[in-house]
Amino acid sequence: MISKNMEGVLNDQVTAEFYSAHLYLAMSAYLESIDLPGYANWMKVQYREEVTHAEKIFEYVIERDGRAIVKAFEAPPINWKSALDISEAVYAHEHKVTGLINNLMDVAISEKDHAAQVFLQWFINEQVEEEASAKSVVQQFKLLGDSKAGLFQIDRELGQRVFTPPTEAAN
Ligand code: FEO
Repeated sequence: MISKNMEGVLNDQVTAEFYSAHLYLAMSAYLESIDLPGYANWMKVQYREEVTHAEKIFEYVIERDGRAIVKAFEAPPINWKSALDISEAVYAHEHKVTGLINNLMDVAISEKDHAAQVFLQWFINEQVEEEASAKSVVQQFKLLGDSKAGLFQIDRELGQRVFTPPTEAAN
């Protein structure tokens, strides 16, 4: 069983993960609107990953005999300035999420909730990957400058990203 405090902060994280999902889906829609279908695909894969993060925490709360609560959250933005602008926003957002996950781990440690610490370790590791992959996209767009051919090439590469369902993903 988890404490009410732990239950509350985990439910808040479910909401934050769903917000991330909607943010990335909104970005995918924007990228489609500026004719970058490859990067839009990359973002849609990111959206699906966020939904699995939310579900993973939701299911953990229930497994620990807590009460999972589904909450409303704010609408994401609609427009950005460019592909580079989006990539920087994703990196900044992932950095923020890392802070949220670290806070959850701090709560688990302060409550001596060892099971929650083991559970949250997956998210700590995931954030290392999330930040690295977001940063790599920022770097690609920065190197590009004004090259249209380069943009086409990067878009094609980002279009190769495939969603791996949780059952096949490493846990
Ligand atoms: Fe759920 Fe992108 O962190």
